[in-house]
Amino acid sequence: MAASIIDGKAFAARVRAKVAAEVSALSRDHGLIPGLAVVLVGEDPASQVYVRSKGKQTVEVGMQSFEHRLPVDISEAELLNLIVKLNADPEIHGILVQLPLPSHVNSELVVNAVDPAKDVDGFHISNVGLLGTGQKAMVPCTPLGCLMMLRDHHDSLSGMDAVVVGRSNIVGKPMAQLLLGDSCTVTIAHSRTRDLPAVCRRADILVAAVGRPEMIPGDWVKPGATVIDVGINRIERDGKTRLVGDVHFESATKVAGAITPVPGGVGPMTIACLLANTLTAACRANGLPEPEGLTA
Ligand code: GUN
Repeated sequence: MAASIIDGKAFAARVRAKVAAEVSALSRDHGLIPGLAVVLVGEDPASQVYVRSKGKQTVEVGMQSFEHRLPVDISEAELLNLIVKLNADPEIHGILVQLPLPSHVNSELVVNAVDPAKDVDGFHISNVGLLGTGQKAMVPCTPLGCLMMLRDHHDSLSGMDAVVVGRSNIVGKPMAQLLLGDSCTVTIAHSRTRDLPAVCRRADILVAAVGRPEMIPGDWVKPGATVIDVGINRIERDGKTRLVGDVHFESATKVAGAITPVPGGVGPMTIACLLANTLTAACRANGLPEPEGLTA
């Protein structure tokens, strides 16, 4: 039987609707409007598309959007100065510095200059540490979106075998922490893993986050497993540019119990979770209870 398709586009729309309802209540009951600042350095076309999309969706859920577009040759000191100002601005509850930054800027320094309470990307070393020790943190958006979809699909993740393929700081490592937090038995696999097919075949939950087009074929998938495909890879096929995941969808869908498609799976969840994180940050900053179902 073919796998059920986890519709990330529809799920993201539900998350945004929930955020919008909470934002409306915050404004009505507390006169509080969550604000998100996005900082974009340079003219990278892909980054520009993301930033425009973030700004649009932020406004659509009733939050304030502040965009800072800076020239590619801005100095590190000027960028750090801007972060200091955004940290101090009470109208801003979330700060996102679009990555990658130009090579003359130390990204780590910039990311760690953001107030951890406003770090809606969850990249600050304090948030990484809080997540790793099972404390309340700001959680990176893409793994948070994956967790939400998994929780929606399963009554409980407790005791499940989860394999995360990919060990990036943005997806693989935080994803593993979140799954551990939900009491999965977690393996992080990567390019040096011995017998990767066998490791993947153990997984009740298989998360692919390697950035290699269609690397994981259906015969690496345990029958009935839930497959979360984080990959967004552009390839040329039949003279056309196509988006494919890290999983070979056609073969995997014949074996898996449930699978996220590309496009329309994990992708749309990322910005929805950015909005959720901004709402969470605004609630925490004002000592208000945080919304249910939008956090780890
Ligand atoms: N560039 C690509 N993905 C991301 C992301 O999730 N956050 C930031 N800040 N930059 C990115």
